Amino acid sequence: MPDADGNKDASNYGLGIPVKKKSFFMKGLEYADWGIKERMARIFDKRSGNAVMLAFDHGYIMGPTSGLERIDLNVVPLLKYADCIMCTRGVLRSCIPPDCGKPVALRFSAGGTILGSLNYECVMDIEEAVRLDVSAMAVMVAIGSENEALTIRNLTKTADMGNRYGIPTFGVTAVGKNLARDARYLGLATRVCAENGATFVKTYYCEGFEKVVAGCPVPIVIAGGKKLPERDALELAYKAINDGANGVDMGRNIFQAEDPAAMIQAVRAVVHKGYSPDRAFELYNDIKSK
Ligand code: R5P
Repeated sequence: MPDADGNKDASNYGLGIPVKKKSFFMKGLEYADWGIKERMARIFDKRSGNAVMLAFDHGYIMGPTSGLERIDLNVVPLLKYADCIMCTRGVLRSCIPPDCGKPVALRFSAGGTILGSLNYECVMDIEEAVRLDVSAMAVMVAIGSENEALTIRNLTKTADMGNRYGIPTFGVTAVGKNLARDARYLGLATRVCAENGATFVKTYYCEGFEKVVAGCPVPIVIAGGKKLPERDALELAYKAINDGANGVDMGRNIFQAEDPAAMIQAVRAVVHKGYSPDRAFELYNDIKSK
């Protein structure tokens, strides 16, 4: 007999045991493969549905930028507060303890730097992602840039490889001097990432962000962008979560904060517990003063 939702064979293959409707806690992933879901569940908290990803891959285009001069001193003490870490294979192998127990979103595309051909990238071999047991492969996609097609091809190729091995593809929408940051542009960029196989997408917060989320069939996390005063960065995270983001992939607003450990804990309170910006800023100051 069909059940109330019209599902066939609800009596469970004639055994009389009720069938539980299958579902996955993250948007757009109900029909994904087991390995993809298992890795997404490493990154995202099942209770809040959200994640605090700590991004420190900036060196691959910027070199030893402020707050990332010494990964061992600046970043390693923060690892325990992150749900997931995002970095390059070079930093992972040279600085991150393999027993830190954190899922890795590996920076999977690489190419030019801020001094040269930014956005002109290629992707790595899938064997490297398997060898490093990563939970996601992050690929930059520069919609509207002269390298647009190349970066979409990188994403597509990564999704092909990722699907073969059950590893999620993380589409990262690029920004550049000539790329807009409004809902129209980011809505297009995130949707293009999803359509071309991204399991989840990173983008920037903007006015009308709820429209960006609504138009993207897979989860979105936001980057923090340039360093803001701490309370403003907490407000940015709060608004993004409120407008439907599934978390943050934050770098500079954490590791360049006056107290990075206090900042990441305050961001956690917003992302997982829904703290208001004022309450989270109070928490930041409390931790900082101890
Ligand atoms: C940018 O290409 C990198 O992927 C960064 O990881 C990303 O921008 C997040 O860092 P931030 O919060 O500093 O913008």
